[in-house]
Amino acid sequence: MIQKQLSYLLVNDILAKDVEDPRGSGLQLLSKGHRLTPKDISLLIKYEITTVHVEEEEKKISDAIIHQVHNLWSNINQEFNESYIENLNQVKQLFNSVALNEDNSSIDQVLSNFAPVLEGALNRSYLLHVLHKIRGFDDYTYRHCLNVSLLSGVIGKLLGLSLDEITELSQAGLLHDIGKMKISNDIINKQGRLTNDEYNRIQFHTTYGYEVLQGMAIPTKIQTAALAHHERLDGSGYPLGLKGDEIPYYAQIIAIADTYDAICSDRVYHKKESPYIAIEELNKGIYNGHFNPQVVLTFTHFLISGYVGYPVLLNNGKRAKIMLIHTDEPQRPLLLLDGEYIDLRKKRELHIKDIIL
Ligand SMILES: [Fe+2]
Repeated sequence: MIQKQLSYLLVNDILAKDVEDPRGSGLQLLSKGHRLTPKDISLLIKYEITTVHVEEEEKKISDAIIHQVHNLWSNINQEFNESYIENLNQVKQLFNSVALNEDNSSIDQVLSNFAPVLEGALNRSYLLHVLHKIRGFDDYTYRHCLNVSLLSGVIGKLLGLSLDEITELSQAGLLHDIGKMKISNDIINKQGRLTNDEYNRIQFHTTYGYEVLQGMAIPTKIQTAALAHHERLDGSGYPLGLKGDEIPYYAQIIAIADTYDAICSDRVYHKKESPYIAIEELNKGIYNGHFNPQVVLTFTHFLISGYVGYPVLLNNGKRAKIMLIHTDEPQRPLLLLDGEYIDLRKKRELHIKDIIL
């Protein structure tokens, strides 16, 4: 057993000891052997419990991955770039054939050619750097789908999914927005605010995508991910207003990769933001009940780990350097500021405004 600081990263861990009301009422809140849910964590936070004992083997972010992350961006690989571009062109062709209602028999070809790109993304640590560089505005939908696919695969790996599941999840990411091909380009690329009617029409891309994919011989999980990737845990999403576990797990992961990539990409209506702004948005998504906390914290820990040693700009206008990432609040790391170590978890009045790249 191991004593761990309470955080949403403990979701799915198994309690190694009973948890009792620390105020001494004698009330047993949770019992030994219980698998923690996000609701349990919220309950324990309410009781101001700061640590719990969990079974040790339930480790989610392996040391190997953390090590890999530390080497992030050290090495740009031409071969990966080339297969990425090639795959991008295939995705483009597939999506265009959907737009023209052509026979979609090329799907198998696209998915099988996609395997080496995914493998490259999972095995090499510079993925995020490459994605950040190539996130231009041209061909946004295709590029976005390929990025979401690769990011979903990385998240799946961090969450400890099997290789088959990671591949399926990445394929679901690749096809999640395919329904956009059934929506007029004038709406998709409109500059400025959408009218209510246009916004409603865009929302149909989830249902259209589901219908298109139902016509293809691909796993149901990929079809339902396209349908449910705009659902939110609190029921505020679309098209069905599903809540919590009603939302398929792949869709919960893709929603997070989707949001991250959208914020970090140039669009008709906004310039791309720094990854740090995206990390902040994802964390807000935990507190407003939109995103799965375990997935967000695992992913943001991974993202921020890539910035250890980088200079950051704080809200007080000062520059500091990221020294260490905490698992419970990855967006509030240990910093070196004017020769002194500052733990942002304890200095709540300070926050990182941006990473200086
Ligand atoms: Fe979408």
